[in-house]
Amino acid sequence: MVIDLGGGTVDITVHKVNQDGKLHEVYPPSGGPWGGTLVDEHIYNFLEDIFGRTVLEILKQESCTEMLDMVRTLELKKRQFKSTSDDEGKVNLTLPSSLFEIYQEENKTEDITDKLKRMYPKNEVTKKRGRLIIDEEIFSNMFEESIESLTDNIKAIFARPDMESINTLVLVGGYSECEILKTTIRETFRDKRVIIPEEAATAVVKGAVLFGHDQRVIDSRRSPCTYGVSIAVPFDPQRHPPMHKYKDMCEDVFKVFIQIGEKIKPGITQRTHSFNTSESSIYVEIYKSILEEPAFITDTGCEKLGVIDLRQLPGRATRVDIIMKFGDTELHVEAKEHGTENKVGAQFNFLR
Ligand SMILES: Nc1ncnc2c1ncn2[C@@H]1O[C@H](COP(=O)(O)OP(=O)(O)OP(=O)(O)O)[C@@H](O)[C@H]1O
Ligand SMILES: [Mg+2]
Repeated sequence: MVIDLGGGTVDITVHKVNQDGKLHEVYPPSGGPWGGTLVDEHIYNFLEDIFGRTVLEILKQESCTEMLDMVRTLELKKRQFKSTSDDEGKVNLTLPSSLFEIYQEENKTEDITDKLKRMYPKNEVTKKRGRLIIDEEIFSNMFEESIESLTDNIKAIFARPDMESINTLVLVGGYSECEILKTTIRETFRDKRVIIPEEAATAVVKGAVLFGHDQRVIDSRRSPCTYGVSIAVPFDPQRHPPMHKYKDMCEDVFKVFIQIGEKIKPGITQRTHSFNTSESSIYVEIYKSILEEPAFITDTGCEKLGVIDLRQLPGRATRVDIIMKFGDTELHVEAKEHGTENKVGAQFNFLR
């Protein structure tokens, strides 16, 4: 299992390494917005609770350089943070002097020391000259949401019967250099081997370059979504809800070309279906879904990727073959006039 821990997102993939070193994807890519910036958000919320949103806004507008200094300090503190796991552990945060000055101007009745005393009666956060002295536990809480979301999602993948045999976790991306994250992962998944390469942040870039040189390293993938097109079929009152009825047809039917999790051989796997066109259907609408068997394109979890305009075909096709090719990191869709070589096509990013 490779876990790419970035700023915005965490991306998880699972591969089987073959005897010849080639990779087979065994689980479609998954992930979520629990990257390093989620920690930043918590740090900013913490400062906002103390100083107030207005004060931070004024600092940003009146003193851009000091704001940038603060951003840099916070990034540094985030990167340096290590839990010492004793009660005495503190984080010292030096903040710009104008932050305190602006606070004073905006809050004539309560100075910052009193406010901190009120918010943190056990002195979990105090002020000493231009610094906030923060209990380690409070600071480590800032990482909690991101790390918990990550471990919960990894556990959910391990819980699947076909994923039990995963024995190695490889952590890459900048956020994988975070000490408390590394420790938590190692402790939570004691029975797995955890590998964090040196310079984990640039490992992602190296991987992209290697893949660019030889795309054959990935022998098979798993479709990250279900893909298909919207079609109309003769209306059947037994199976079709009346809301999709138009004249004697049932519209918005999700015709599945490939299902989520299906095995794909890059450059080889392709699916073709033929449809009759009528005067009115000049667009082929392409959809993706996170459902295995979506019935209608209007189901929740379905999303339109784009359209192919059949008017771009030279002839007035009465029957078209829709071909989906799962080549590389993109989904290629073609509409071909049946029985001819006349085509129009489109590409969609596969990974998003
Ligand atoms: N030692 C460290 N401790 C904690 N966080 C760190 C450390 N080093 C880097 N980060 C965090 O890693 C993140 C950046 O990682 P990376 O460069 O992999 O992201 P990215 O690839 O730009 O983002 P994405 O993959 O979401 O597009 C930032 O949030 C940064 O604060
Ligand atoms: Mg990244």
